[in-house]
Amino acid sequence: MRDAAPKTIYLADYTPYPWTVESVDLHFTLAPNATRVRSVIRFAPNPNASAEDAMFLHGEKLKLISAAIDGAPVTPDLSDEGLQVAVPSGAFTFEAEVEIDPANNTALEGLYMSNGMYCTQCEAEGFRKITFYPDRPDVMSVFTVTVEGPHPVLLSNGNPVLTQNHLAKWHDPWPKPAYLFALVAGDLVAHSDTFTTMSGRHVDLNLYVRPGDEGKCAFGMQALKASMKWDEEVYGREYDLDLFNIVAVDDFNMGAMENKGLNIFNSSAVLASPETSTDMNFERIEAIIAHEYFHNWTGNRITCRDWFQLCLKEGLTVYRDSQFTSDMRSAPVKRISDVIDLRGRQFAEDQGPLAHPVRPESFQEINNFYTATVYEKGAEVIGMLKTLVGDEAYYQALDLYFERHDGDAATIEDWLKVFEDTTGRNLTQFKRWYAQAGTPRVTLEENFELDTLTLTFTQHTPPSAATPDPQPQVIPIAVGLIYPDGTEALETRVLEMTKAEQSFRFTGLEDEPVASVLRGFSAPVVLTQNLSDTDRAHLLANDTDTFNRWEQGRTLARGSLLSMIRTGAAPDAKYLAGIHAVVTDTSLDPATRALMLGLPSQSDLATTLHDAGETPDPAAIYAASETMREALADTFSSDAAGLYAANTVTAPYDPGAEQAGKRSLSNAMLSLITRRDGGAAAQAQYDAADNMTQQLSALANLIRAGKGTASLTAFYDQWKDDRLVMDKWFGLQVMEAAPEDAAATAEALTRHPDFNHKNPNRFRAVFGALVMHHAGFHHASGAAYTLLADWLITLDPLNPQTTARMCSAFQTWKRYDAHRQRMILAQVDRILATPNLSRDTTEMLTRIRGA
Ligand code: TRP
Ligand code: ZN
Repeated sequence: MRDAAPKTIYLADYTPYPWTVESVDLHFTLAPNATRVRSVIRFAPNPNASAEDAMFLHGEKLKLISAAIDGAPVTPDLSDEGLQVAVPSGAFTFEAEVEIDPANNTALEGLYMSNGMYCTQCEAEGFRKITFYPDRPDVMSVFTVTVEGPHPVLLSNGNPVLTQNHLAKWHDPWPKPAYLFALVAGDLVAHSDTFTTMSGRHVDLNLYVRPGDEGKCAFGMQALKASMKWDEEVYGREYDLDLFNIVAVDDFNMGAMENKGLNIFNSSAVLASPETSTDMNFERIEAIIAHEYFHNWTGNRITCRDWFQLCLKEGLTVYRDSQFTSDMRSAPVKRISDVIDLRGRQFAEDQGPLAHPVRPESFQEINNFYTATVYEKGAEVIGMLKTLVGDEAYYQALDLYFERHDGDAATIEDWLKVFEDTTGRNLTQFKRWYAQAGTPRVTLEENFELDTLTLTFTQHTPPSAATPDPQPQVIPIAVGLIYPDGTEALETRVLEMTKAEQSFRFTGLEDEPVASVLRGFSAPVVLTQNLSDTDRAHLLANDTDTFNRWEQGRTLARGSLLSMIRTGAAPDAKYLAGIHAVVTDTSLDPATRALMLGLPSQSDLATTLHDAGETPDPAAIYAASETMREALADTFSSDAAGLYAANTVTAPYDPGAEQAGKRSLSNAMLSLITRRDGGAAAQAQYDAADNMTQQLSALANLIRAGKGTASLTAFYDQWKDDRLVMDKWFGLQVMEAAPEDAAATAEALTRHPDFNHKNPNRFRAVFGALVMHHAGFHHASGAAYTLLADWLITLDPLNPQTTARMCSAFQTWKRYDAHRQRMILAQVDRILATPNLSRDTTEMLTRIRGA
């Protein structure tokens, strides 16, 4: 079926729906190719909207069997997008029966099947593929759902009110928009536990998985209970049903979904065991469980008026889950990891043709706006707000938000108003963070005279198609001062920059200090501070802000790599000496030391070069990064073995921060050792490994050393029946391939019998890895561009959402030389020329291509 012609939706056009929905009753009779959905919907005129005599209901790919209003059959007008029907002037009941085909729903949106199990994904606009309904988040209602099917487990939102053989009836007392609807039916087993809330409510907790996965549930359950407790303690938010269910699904487009009382998770985002999951997997699972649970208040109890307000729930919930991880693990380590991620994904997005504000003003396909900008920059904006108003006012404002807007479909205006009302501040200028695309560039000039240091900042945001004329932002700049002897001249103070240029003075200083600026990355900006390498090395060694110590190391590394790329310079000795000192400093925690050893990603270096008006050469960037790693291997040649041994964990595996930090340092050392011993230590670690973190890191090093063949086969034989581990096996081979082999490696893997492009995890394992391999993806042959385009064309008719997300690989095309630009555009145009291309992919590629 052909998608409707692309239509642009504008924030400015918002109008309320003419009706409210008093109640919804749904009855599902499940069958793989012919599921029947009967609906009974009570409508009443919306007192806040103007009355209309014809009603529109969304509905896509539905076979209408019958419809009636107040019991009398009606024949609605049908289109690709829904139905239109004449309605009476007061309240009325609309009934319909439709037929859908879950077994052939490869888009994984609406009701679909995964390994014989039925499940749903309705955010953002998937409910309209289940039945006719006003599928918009400001229409909220109470749902009662009956599920009839042959499966032992039949689930929906809320509380069970009736359970018989092959039939279950559920009632969710909390009014909700349709995007939070969920249904699951399958042959599943539950890992169960309980939680008692702060007011004494007894909650049953279940994690439902396929038989065989029972052994991978304990960690997720523990993370859920920790999240429930944390939200009570930190935000005063309590759970509000007697039951909380999580279901793991193998075929899923994203990480997880916060459906009321019935969260549905990609199995990669919930199933964990030491033997099959890495430390990074454990940390990510803990964060996603928390994220979805926290949505119960920030998203479900208070939802979004329209999809332009997506950051209202996502930015805030990401911010909350990052606070949770900081509390459960190490706050500086979490901050550094988040900044690496923000720079890698959001800064790249903000610099290219897909740049958009945290609250976009128009879209064609909302699925294309679940972006790093909405999520991660959206969270940064909340962090800045908290920094500006202080912790106490922040939590007061949040209390007011929950009190004032509970049960609402709210807006960013509502959100900012609670802060204005709590603090008396005017947030008009601050609101630009929601309205303007682009990353502000902040430049610092320093002047020291007698006892006074003057810091003069200028800010400038490059214009973009989305924001042609950016205005100055409110930028919180956390600053500290460090004397030459390493003592602190000034503890952290937050400067509030509001103008294009602004000076701040610090008097009464005994000596000229080094300014430690943008501590904790207090704003998502690109800072230029003309510090000498000596001053940077001083901060790297002495700064009292851990984030900024890391940042100075990173800046030195970046500076050195850029000179290596530009002039063929040798690796900077000051950088190497500084890093050697911090990494061997046992007073620092191992996780931080491991992070200090990291280099800016090759894609980040390309961004920086492009920003400086140069044309990045992926091969040169790759070569410089390799040379630097060789230099690090030399620098640590006499310490690596000792550090490796000292940080090798012998105690039974525990996924907590302490052991994980040690493993990250020992594995960082292993990669330096492997450059010198040809893989002997890696082979020993591989042979001894009793957990996936150790096994996978050893395997990666063996491949890099050219000694991976036997272990790759052994790994396959050991894990061929575990889909999540096999995803790692697929991804790692692409990740560790030499740049000239990356595309061929990926291509060969697509011919492996275990490759299945219909499974998003497997598709992303291969192509996500290819796209992340900067020098491999951008290899001068253009082979990776062609391969990716071939597979995007294959996948688009089956799964537009996953196809469109993967298109962002092409967003950086303008950075590169004319030859690569031509090759990329040829592939973009080839995809765009495909008949019946989805709205999702069409919008992405059209935006990437530009006007
Ligand atoms: N709301 C989900 C979250 O962030 C994400 C989400 C949106 C999603 N659309 C989706 C997940 C489609 C899976 C499929 O928590
Ligand atoms: Zn979310």
